[in-house]
Amino acid sequence: MDVILIAAVAENGVIGRDNAMPWRLKSDMTHFRELTIGKPVVMGRNTYLSIGKPLKDRTTIVASRDRTFAAPGIVVAPSLEAAMSVARGDALRRGADAIIVAGGADIYAQAMPRATSLAITEVHMRAEGDACFPAIDAKLWHESGRSEHAAGAEDAAAFAFVNYRRVAGGAPAPVAQATGRD
Ligand SMILES: NC(=O)c1ccc[n+]([C@@H]2O[C@H](COP(=O)([O-])OP(=O)(O)OC[C@H]3O[C@@H](n4cnc5c(N)ncnc54)[C@H](OP(=O)(O)O)[C@@H]3O)[C@@H](O)[C@H]2O)c1
Repeated sequence: MDVILIAAVAENGVIGRDNAMPWRLKSDMTHFRELTIGKPVVMGRNTYLSIGKPLKDRTTIVASRDRTFAAPGIVVAPSLEAAMSVARGDALRRGADAIIVAGGADIYAQAMPRATSLAITEVHMRAEGDACFPAIDAKLWHESGRSEHAAGAEDAAAFAFVNYRRVAGGAPAPVAQATGRD
């Protein structure tokens, strides 16, 4: 089962500001939908709150340590481990070949060791912000695809869709294995 981290990242690593996206990038929203449709999507509570609703046609699995947190149309998981386990069951039921991890910074950092690939939108601008994507270690990840795009009418900047695969031998941590960080 692939575990794909999907993120839009500015040139300086920024992904968010004040629990919102620091830019408008309509083309990337379309890309996100295309990549994630029909798959389970794991995210942290802050990212869920910034989106404000479940993702349509996808199972939205939200990690939160707050046992009182609940919202209609989402599955709340008390640990990243539990979230990945729910996602795996959902993917198997749907016949999906991947689990999507959709952020934010806290969840990306914890899920990176389990990821098999990264779907990064490189946003060709520097952004002010308080949330960053973890460094992509060139010893562990190799670029497997790239397409460059000019900014569309509703895009704040030009961007590239970049895929990374884990290098051979750099096996991810098993999806259902505790890391001690949950
Ligand atoms: N550019 C992009 O592609 C992109 C994508 C996604 C998000 N973002 C941005 O990223 C920012 C949000 O990131 P963030 O780091 O603040 O928050 P986050 O990762 O979305 O959520 C963090 C929260 O998730 C829960 N959590 C984290 N680890 C957990 C674990 N192991 N077990 C159970 N619950 C866990 C906790 O919720 P509780 O406090 O409820 O316990 C924690 O406070 C926003 O600015 C957002 O816009 C950007």
